[in-house]
Amino acid sequence: MNELPLFNDSIHTLWDTHAHLDDKRFKSDLAEVLRRAQEMGIRRILNVGHSEESSCRSVEMAEKYDFIYASVGVHPHDAKDCTPRTWETLNRWARRPKVVAWGEIGLDYYRDLSPRDVQKTIFIEQIELANAAGLPVIIHDRDAHGDLVRTVKDHPPEKGGVFHSYSGSWEMAKGLLHQGFYLSFSGPLTYRNARQAAEVAAHVPADRFLVETDCPYLPPEPFRGQRNEPVHVRKVVERLAQLKNLTVDQVADLSTANAERLFGGKGL
Ligand code: NI
Repeated sequence: MNELPLFNDSIHTLWDTHAHLDDKRFKSDLAEVLRRAQEMGIRRILNVGHSEESSCRSVEMAEKYDFIYASVGVHPHDAKDCTPRTWETLNRWARRPKVVAWGEIGLDYYRDLSPRDVQKTIFIEQIELANAAGLPVIIHDRDAHGDLVRTVKDHPPEKGGVFHSYSGSWEMAKGLLHQGFYLSFSGPLTYRNARQAAEVAAHVPADRFLVETDCPYLPPEPFRGQRNEPVHVRKVVERLAQLKNLTVDQVADLSTANAERLFGGKGL
């Protein structure tokens, strides 16, 4: 095992491209969490909606804090609760200047909290809404690799997108990269048994990876079992640097450039 490269104060800039800071677990100390993130060099945080309510909270947060951006969308878990009114509302928010993506959307066949045919219909509808709004998509894929790959082939997101917390094989990744998608890495990349993710991370081209926390979920080592927060994205960057034989600053700079290319359509 290589020595873990350490963060130092030369870190220029970093995005946490997937956070849920509107989660109730941040209610009591959000200001502290944001301060820690900024002190460490995180320049931007993309707060991701997963329902109508959380999309609303994301937009509010982005309009309150300069360095926070928002996405709007309905997670496959909540697909069964969508109504035409949901689309009307999200469509309106999608036009606001700090809303830079549509998501998180996709398929979740692990928890199956909405029927699979409903998940698929709602996913496709949201790809079309993202296309109409000129936004890239943030895709959630849990145990649904085959259907996801087929769906994005038949209904390509016109402004591209990212497979967040990517969990597929390198074989699948090659197809997605060919289609222009980005792959995002999170806490599980630091887990000892993450062989598949490590293989993908080692091979993913320098211009196609992002980093994220998915906080409060998916804490990296050595914070497993605790609430995750944006500052811990550094652990993901350190692991990527090790796997790609790059310095921490190189990984930070590349992931920032990639995030700005994907999410910068409205100007940042
Ligand atoms: Ni998420």
